[in-house]
Amino acid sequence: MPAIAYVNGQFVDFAEAVVPAEDRGHLFGDGVYEVVRVYGGRPFLLPWHLERLGQSLAAVDIVNPHSEHEWVALIGEAVRRSQEAEATVYWQVTRGAGPRSHAFPAGAPHVTLIVRPFTPSPASQATAVLLPDERWSHVWVKTLNLLPNVIAKETARRAGAEEALFVRAGVLTEGSSSNAWFVRDGTLFTHPADRHILAGVTRRFVLHLAQQAGIPVCERPVGVAELSFMDEVFFTGTTVEVLPVTRILADPDALFWQAAALPADRPATLVRDLSRARVLWERTGAAVSGVAEQLQKMFTQAVERFRNYEDVL
Ligand SMILES: Cc1ncc(COP(=O)(O)O)c(C=O)c1O
Repeated sequence: MPAIAYVNGQFVDFAEAVVPAEDRGHLFGDGVYEVVRVYGGRPFLLPWHLERLGQSLAAVDIVNPHSEHEWVALIGEAVRRSQEAEATVYWQVTRGAGPRSHAFPAGAPHVTLIVRPFTPSPASQATAVLLPDERWSHVWVKTLNLLPNVIAKETARRAGAEEALFVRAGVLTEGSSSNAWFVRDGTLFTHPADRHILAGVTRRFVLHLAQQAGIPVCERPVGVAELSFMDEVFFTGTTVEVLPVTRILADPDALFWQAAALPADRPATLVRDLSRARVLWERTGAAVSGVAEQLQKMFTQAVERFRNYEDVL
């Protein structure tokens, strides 16, 4: 079955799915979004995604066009029409369309929703590169403005890595599309869910799994200087689930990762050349089959229970 699209109140043929040229999502990135993973035909942790959508909409003062019940029905209907058991549902709510003018227009928000079949990446480990967290100061809002994230991911890809690990004022915040976790002596560390990270739904679920497993958790900012003391690093996210990191690269000339503020220089391109990047952190053999793998396994088992209509919380 091809991907499914829903635009402004109607399911449409995917190839015919178009948004108005003056949609504010298109003009300004004036909107917010969510992505949910579908396992066995069922959207995983959907109530938590809807809760965060409500927070994002409230943050940017867009009226939530649907009740939770309506969202659940709409997403369920989209998945049903797609006939996909393994998929992602992406949906966004923009401030609607209107003549291009910065101040908010009158009018209703626009909803666009896409269901696509999803095949997980075969890679069960990742390499990361350190990059400056040059995003705006409200990254906790899941807005459509992802240019810094997109540039960071592409920079990582060109350096042969799967993910960028952001550093803000000497602190490791999160990945370009994932949350970051660190393990030292069996204790989990992750940045608190404040304004400097997106409070991942997977992060929330992994906190729950850690509690179930009796793994101690410390939600506090981790400094780059602490990295050398960490036994394990991993990322979490809706599509990557739990992804252990084997090495972290950094450009030894780019001092952003120690600096308290971003350098004032204007690079010619934001897609940095990382050909001089060196290994800053590497996982040693002793840590293999550690906490990351334990949580990865617990996550997979929870998904299996979910596929079988069992409770996961
Ligand atoms: C910047 C950022 N952090 C964290 C995440 C992980 O969030 P979730 O677990 O809800 O997918 C994402 C997911 O897109 C993200 O873009």
